[in-house]
Amino acid sequence: MRGSVKKRIGVLTGGGDCPGLNAAIRAVTKTAILDYGMEVTGIKDGYVGLVENKYSQLSYEDVSGILAEGGTFLGASNKANPFNYPSASNKSKDLSDLAIDNAKEMGLDGLVCIGGDGTLSVAYRLYKKGLKIVGIPKTIDNDLRATDFTIGFDSAVITATEAIDKLHTTAQSHHRVMVIEVMGRYAGWLALYSGVAGGGDIIIIPEIPYDIKKVCKRVVDRFKHGKRFSIVVVAEGARPKGGRMVVKKVVKDSTDPVRLGGIGNRIAMDVEKCTGLEARVTSLGHLQRGGSPSPFDRMLATRLGTFACGLAARGEFGKMAALKGRDIVAVGLKDAVTSIRRVDPKHPIIKSAISVGTSFAF
Ligand code: F6P
Repeated sequence: MRGSVKKRIGVLTGGGDCPGLNAAIRAVTKTAILDYGMEVTGIKDGYVGLVENKYSQLSYEDVSGILAEGGTFLGASNKANPFNYPSASNKSKDLSDLAIDNAKEMGLDGLVCIGGDGTLSVAYRLYKKGLKIVGIPKTIDNDLRATDFTIGFDSAVITATEAIDKLHTTAQSHHRVMVIEVMGRYAGWLALYSGVAGGGDIIIIPEIPYDIKKVCKRVVDRFKHGKRFSIVVVAEGARPKGGRMVVKKVVKDSTDPVRLGGIGNRIAMDVEKCTGLEARVTSLGHLQRGGSPSPFDRMLATRLGTFACGLAARGEFGKMAALKGRDIVAVGLKDAVTSIRRVDPKHPIIKSAISVGTSFAF
């Protein structure tokens, strides 16, 4: 138990890592110390630290010099749902009461959870059980409702766009079809943004099931018009019309058990068969989650982090800091996690892409 009379907040990062998490931890911690005179506890490895009492106090110096660093120095986990916690006997247990008791023992007057859909859904359930929680949205998938952008997305778009730019070289030199598989389980934002920014010829997203005949037709048409290469950008969660996503494995104790991967190979094989052209696949994988955050993500993390800290200091719990237009606002945690935000097939970006000749293969 603590002896101090200062208010104390905790901060944790849950789910998959992404660029900008350290910037957000820094913003929460510095604001807590400088603006509100609060103390800060860093919870290790997401909800693991809350259940297993792994934490340390964070000073101003601890969060100095980390703005530009990728990953999260607190650690993260996407297999640590306190309501369904993995145990040695292989049977998951509901340890949410223990997590809440531990937060009390740590002397937390509030907890800032930085996470995506899985982490913030758990945060909302813990909040309903009495834990005082504020959320900050992050995920390279950008699929959280109630915010225009999540921390990490912009950096991942830059990584994927650079990869598409580089793949153009081999595509042009060798007259090949280059298929690039990017992340995005249920939402195709990353494929859409990087595909448009990188000038992808065909973009395939989970929200628009693809017709392989349309993919092949576009490749062949381009060839006939002297463009002897094509770039296909596909989200890992894409599926053919009437078909299914390609599931690589299922991680039972994860907040979102499905792990995807392989749709790029399938498309490349099919394209080779129907066009006779050579097709190659590049799967970007976790490269998209790595590296230094972009200036946009550093700004977003700083703005969301300082705002979320203010919410916690004022006792405004059950809320998430969100970007709406140019403003940072508070939205209900519930609204953020009720359903994910997917790409509307009629989205203006899709319209623009079609206007410049991009195919979505529907
Ligand atoms: O949700 C973020 C994300 O990067 C998804 O795009 C991807 O499907 C998933 O996480 C991969 O998770 P893991 O790192 O556990 O394989």
